Amino acid sequence: MKPMIAPSILSANFAHLEDDVKAAEKGGADYFHLDIMDSHFVPNISFGPWIAKTMKGITDVPLDAHLMITRPREYIPKFVDAGVELIYPHIEASHDVYRTVQLITDLGAKAGITLNPGTPIAEVEPLIDLVDSVLLMSVCPGFGGQKFISSNMKKISDLRKMLEEQKPSVRIAVDGGVNRRNIKALYEAGADFFIAGSAVFRTDDIEGEVRALKAALK
Ligand code: DX5
Ligand code: ZN
Repeated sequence: MKPMIAPSILSANFAHLEDDVKAAEKGGADYFHLDIMDSHFVPNISFGPWIAKTMKGITDVPLDAHLMITRPREYIPKFVDAGVELIYPHIEASHDVYRTVQLITDLGAKAGITLNPGTPIAEVEPLIDLVDSVLLMSVCPGFGGQKFISSNMKKISDLRKMLEEQKPSVRIAVDGGVNRRNIKALYEAGADFFIAGSAVFRTDDIEGEVRALKAALK
């Protein structure tokens, strides 16, 4: 599968969001990643569904929403209405996550599912038939700019093995500490959807950084 790069606008400069987004788009961003935080599921607050509408006014690049929130089903319809193509709730956020994922597909969006660093991949097995993508957190969610947790490398290859037997079309996304030095190894381990916040936006050359991430995969 062709690898994809999804810059996370959490690290963009909101004083000139449009310029940052356009630069990442020029560099070849395949998705834009929206980090939604509620201060309950994670110790931080970011932005709500309005950010998707704002982004739709800036770019035609598809959007994914990473829901770090405790009541995802209340908000999923709002993100779908705002035009988000792919939604990643957390498996740890609700006891009835199957229902959450079903709601996403019933509303016509692509469903992903996210696992925190401490959640074993076996938990995702019953959901595989419903999802397009599994997102493995490689930092504790809540903040950009953290260091990649190295045990995630084995988790990626173990999940790839599991998917090969069950549903090879499912993408593996990695979020947290992704940069041009580690992206190739993550790709070789079996990931193919790379979310990068600070590596892209905390730089002077946003367009060049997206290009560099893509070039590092070759
Ligand atoms: C963390 C978020 C990430 C974050 C990644 O809770 O889910 O998407 O923005 O930022 P970097 O790439 O800086 O680790
Ligand atoms: Zn994220």
